[in-house]
Amino acid sequence: MDWGMKNRISRIIKKDGRTVMLAVDHGYFMGPTTGLEKLDETVNPLLPYADTLMLTRGALRNYIPPENDVPIVLRVSGGTSIIGKELLHEGITVSMEEAIRLNVSGVAFSIMVGSDFERDTLLDFTKVVDEAERYGIPVLAVTAVGKEMAKDVRYLSLASRMAAELGARIVKTYYCEDFEKIVDTCPVPVVIAGGKKTSEKDALKMAYDAIQAGAAGVDMGRNIFQSSNPAAMIKAVRAIVHKKATPDEAYGVFEKAGKGER
Ligand code: R5P
Repeated sequence: MDWGMKNRISRIIKKDGRTVMLAVDHGYFMGPTTGLEKLDETVNPLLPYADTLMLTRGALRNYIPPENDVPIVLRVSGGTSIIGKELLHEGITVSMEEAIRLNVSGVAFSIMVGSDFERDTLLDFTKVVDEAERYGIPVLAVTAVGKEMAKDVRYLSLASRMAAELGARIVKTYYCEDFEKIVDTCPVPVVIAGGKKTSEKDALKMAYDAIQAGAAGVDMGRNIFQSSNPAAMIKAVRAIVHKKATPDEAYGVFEKAGKGER
């Protein structure tokens, strides 16, 4: 692995092998998602606690001050919307030249294993990998899941392993029972998406279980930015990912931070 690739990965995944990625890319297919209507107002106060920010180029340009040094993972797939007929039949939306111009640390692309259009998304994914590798940019594969597919260990380990075999340097998937099997059979770091908003307690427990099972961290969005207190929630998630906190201890961090205590 060359220096540039190693350096970029080390900006995303910290020295302890873990990362808290803040995912705020939802607008690329969901429009003004609850909590991100004015993205800067929600996200900028969270940046000191995020190891990495995952978003689109439009959000980056329009909402994030360029003086900020949070490492960026740029969403480079898209092309379908939540109201269209082919959700997640995505193609390449950003060139590698643009990614370099935006000084990103990584790029993210969604693959749709098992869907009618898996071949399109997998072949575009490998094109992105080829381009990104040329410049030492790691590609994070998002193992997107269609409504008709089970988010179980059989499916997610298949999609995660395929992503790594096709060139992903990091894989993002969903937490499920027997998550260890996904981590054990995937040769690159695995992070979990948060999924739909649930209670803070449940989201922290899921993050904890994923870390216990060997995940390198989280790439969490709605369960942070739709929380009653997003700053308190990201601090609590950090406690689990980087400080070995239990779910109860992390919930204590959430409550304390919510009251303005350190
Ligand atoms: C989905 O493909 C997007 O990349 C989101 O960033 C991802 O699902 C993580 O966000 P959340 O934790 O809200 O599921």
